[in-house]
Amino acid sequence: MLIRKALPKDIDAIKKIADSLSKELGFVIRGALVESAQRNELIVIDDNGVKGFVNFHRRKDGWTTIYEIAVSEKGKGYGQKLIDYLLAERHIIKLKCPVDNEANKFYNKVGKLVKIVKGKKRDLNVYIIIPEDIKVKTSGVCKGGS
Ligand SMILES: CC(C)(COP(=O)(O)OP(=O)(O)OC[C@H]1O[C@@H](n2cnc3c(N)ncnc32)[C@H](O)[C@@H]1OP(=O)(O)O)[C@@H](O)C(=O)NCCC(=O)NCCS
Repeated sequence: MLIRKALPKDIDAIKKIADSLSKELGFVIRGALVESAQRNELIVIDDNGVKGFVNFHRRKDGWTTIYEIAVSEKGKGYGQKLIDYLLAERHIIKLKCPVDNEANKFYNKVGKLVKIVKGKKRDLNVYIIIPEDIKVKTSGVCKGGS
C-alpha cells in the first residue's frame, strides 16, 4: 500500500471513484482533478490500484481546504491514511461538510467540529484537522466562513 501524489495515469481511476459517489461529492470535473494533480494537490492511496483520493488546496493563509476525499472501499482505514499523510506533510486542514452527510462520522473521528455555518442549500459543519504538535487558536479560525 502506497500513498502518493496523483499521476496523470491515475485520473481515470480517481474520476471513476468520484462519479460512483456523486451523491456525496457532487459532480467532480475531470479538468479540476488534472489541475490539482499538476499543483501536487491530489493524493491517492494505491493498494493494488487506486482505492481512494483526497483533492485539496493549500491556501495562501496557511490553511489547507479539502475539496473532496473519497474511497472505493469504505471502512478499511483508507480515509484515515489519506488524512494522516496530509498531517505528516504539516497541513493544517479546514473543511466544510453538509450536516446531513454520512461523512460527518468520519470527520468527527479524524478532526474537531468548530462551528456550523449556513450553506446555499444546507447547513455546513466546519471541521479543523491539525497535526498534534501544532497549536492554533480555534476561536478565530473560521473568520469569513471559508
Ligand atoms: C468519508 C470517507 C472518505 C471515510 O473513509 P473510510 O476509509 O471509510 O474511513 P476509515 O475506514 O479510515 O475510518 C476512520 C474512522 O472513521 C470512522 N468512520 C468512517 N466512516 C464512518 C461511518 N460512516 N460511520 C461511523 N464511523 C465512521 C471509522 O470507524 C474509523 O474510526 P476508528 O478509527 O475508531 O475505527 C468514505 O466513507 C467515503 O469515501 N465516503 C463517500 C464520499 C464522501 O462523503 N466524502 C466526504 C465528503 S467530501
